[in-house]
Amino acid sequence: MVIGLTLDGPPCNRYGQDSENLEVQVTMERARIHVKILDPNENAFEVPEDLLAPDHSFNPKVSAESLLEFHYESEPFSFWIRRKDTGETIFDTTGIPLIYEKEYRELTSRLPHDANIYGIGEVVSNFRRNPEYTLQPMWARDAADPINQNIYGTHPFYIELRDGKAHGVSLLNSFGMDVLLENATVAYKTLGGVLDFSFFAGPNSYDVIDAYTATIGRPFQVPYWSLGFNQCRYGYHDIQIVEGVVNSYAEAKIPLETMWTDIDYMDQYRDFTTDPVRYPTDVMRTFIDKLHSEGKHYVLIIDPAIERDENYPAWTEGVEQNTFIKNPDGSIYIGQVWPGYTGFPDWFNPNTTKWWSKQISTFHSKVPVDGLWIDMNEPSSFCVGSCGTNRTGTPPYPWLDPDYDLNVPQTFPNPAYNISNFYGNLSVHTVSTEATHYNGLTEFQVHNLFGHMEAIATRKALLDIAPEKRTFVLGRSTFPSSGHHEAHWTGDNASKWEYLRYSIPGILSFQMFGVPLVGSDICGFNGNTTEELCLRWMQLGSFYPFSRNHNVKGAISQEAYRWPSVAEASRKALNTRYSLLPYIYTQFQYAHTSGLPVWRPLPFEFQDDPSFLSNEEEILLGPAILVSPVLTENADAVEAAFPKGVWYNFYNYEKVEGGKTHLLPAPLDGDIPLHIRGGHVVPIQKPELVIADMAHNPFKLLVALDEREEATGSMYFDDGESTDVRGYFSEVRYTADTRGIRYEGRFNYYTGANLESVVVMGLKRKPERVTIYGIEYGSWTYDAAKELLTITELELSMDTRFEIKF
Ligand code: NOJ
Repeated sequence: MVIGLTLDGPPCNRYGQDSENLEVQVTMERARIHVKILDPNENAFEVPEDLLAPDHSFNPKVSAESLLEFHYESEPFSFWIRRKDTGETIFDTTGIPLIYEKEYRELTSRLPHDANIYGIGEVVSNFRRNPEYTLQPMWARDAADPINQNIYGTHPFYIELRDGKAHGVSLLNSFGMDVLLENATVAYKTLGGVLDFSFFAGPNSYDVIDAYTATIGRPFQVPYWSLGFNQCRYGYHDIQIVEGVVNSYAEAKIPLETMWTDIDYMDQYRDFTTDPVRYPTDVMRTFIDKLHSEGKHYVLIIDPAIERDENYPAWTEGVEQNTFIKNPDGSIYIGQVWPGYTGFPDWFNPNTTKWWSKQISTFHSKVPVDGLWIDMNEPSSFCVGSCGTNRTGTPPYPWLDPDYDLNVPQTFPNPAYNISNFYGNLSVHTVSTEATHYNGLTEFQVHNLFGHMEAIATRKALLDIAPEKRTFVLGRSTFPSSGHHEAHWTGDNASKWEYLRYSIPGILSFQMFGVPLVGSDICGFNGNTTEELCLRWMQLGSFYPFSRNHNVKGAISQEAYRWPSVAEASRKALNTRYSLLPYIYTQFQYAHTSGLPVWRPLPFEFQDDPSFLSNEEEILLGPAILVSPVLTENADAVEAAFPKGVWYNFYNYEKVEGGKTHLLPAPLDGDIPLHIRGGHVVPIQKPELVIADMAHNPFKLLVALDEREEATGSMYFDDGESTDVRGYFSEVRYTADTRGIRYEGRFNYYTGANLESVVVMGLKRKPERVTIYGIEYGSWTYDAAKELLTITELELSMDTRFEIKF
């Protein structure tokens, strides 16, 4: 349906010239109701289709069209979206003028008072956004995790929970904007583009994320190794120190899967080079070969900015191939990053992807890393706007200058409406808004796409090197669809208790944004951590979807082995993580196929229970593991709310009653409280210090029966690294009740692993006998007080179906 609109009355020209005519295009799709409002006489920039990766095979049980209705009134124009099942209006612009002007568009919807809104990021804030007042600017910004401000990525997407039902609203638009929650409304104020809204019906939160990620792009399929533990820091002076860290992990018997190196490895901070003295290429190569021979991995950082130097191939080839962002006069735009004066790749130029891929593959042939970390891609640049066209060399960082002033007024374009970018001027600490891209696009229009486009190019470069291997890219600045290409970390947090807590909402919101492989810098980035903070952070961080300890240059060392107490806590927590890897990997597979979060927010998982609407101190890892971390100093217990149902202590299988709050002991030398949810079967595998060594290790089944004494579970496995597994995967299902356990499904990947033992929790009567394939089996015990059946000494293949009866 297309609705034509004409300006209602004289123009108000609030922040620019009002459009005379508008077009409202409404399409009913399986995934969403799609409403686009645009001026047909204006050629506004829209996010190009090839920056998204819609899942065309998406086939929801119920289509958005049969759950939602679109209604409108033409004079004055307003529209509203209604749920068919409840008749509830979920988005409603009636009575609030739509404003559509050159360089300003505003659309506002009514919300209930005290609305339950989640998302609208990237931000350091609570998971449930403050409905009284939330001002979220969307302008990618390199800022060290200030609270409630705009930071690295832009995701104008929210999920609202209303009376136990979820719906989602997204706006696809790359321009700077403000999203404002205030006075029971949500307002979008953008500096241009098209008002491209999608409405997702739910009514389950995960249906919303499923439909949203089907529209923008599904999370990429992770390499199994990326789920291991990662150690990084800024300030590892030389490769010997890096080697020492790897050795210290091995000596401390703390799992370490992937070692990282920050910009320290580069020659004068230039991408695709290594420092000849501190990180000689041949020594790095030997080091990487050794890591690989031990089943470990190595990831290096690269930044997008390329130093202007006629003797530096990345620069000269870029100049030849015209791959850099320009000034309006056609000269190359110069900013400043770590290496000095730099150019910035213009991802809109098709040459740029090829040039980038070549730089990466040439470097990779010498330094065969397993993945890349793309930082500083808001893009960050230290001058206010251009540093001056003809600059070369390595000036001091501008903030060292006492007269460094960020308070510079915005020049071109100078929109009348100032979005609330916390640097003020949109060109501060980034590329100037007047810089131009291929096809005459300006940075003003496409700024928020830079990091996302770098992720696409970087993933492509890795696929060019090894098309058959899954890629690993970790990126800082993200946009809707980035999760199709990369993982994310929440940037420069601080070694403070509040950032331990904020890591939870940070990670939960990226589960909504379709970027499930996400983590925060464990033990904190900026500032010095403390033994206790680092211990608690290692306990929680061991269960982050992406688990990496990372630290700023100059701060005290914080690797997990630095304090005996932290080492011990890390061994315990990481061993538990590794034992859960088959289960965690399965959750990533579901994320890849249907967007399902790996870290499940309690407000979403228990959306019928209003007492969980603001719970963001606990997390469900997958459907079955409740993580209740200590988030405060000097605590030896944690007060944890348990959703309804039966729960069992992960370590001793004791039953915990749901629907209540329990005070759980959590001494520093104990385990992080974890509970298994009744109704679920969780497979665990014997852990090792590196994942490769676990391949054929035995499994144990944790069967947590619910009140009806039933439980189910599932597991997906494949080789963990191929882009195309060619049908070689297994997908199995566990079903358990009072009569036994069945394991069946599709078996098309050989693990060579056995099931060694089973623990059935919540079995109320002692079995008369246990049989396997009809033959009586002797190795079992039953503890009536604990309602626990334990079957041991099994040797059942995990590669074929079986049934244990009792
Ligand atoms: C900023 C990144 O956010 C941080 O993680 C990194 O250590 C520094 N840049 C240095 O590369």
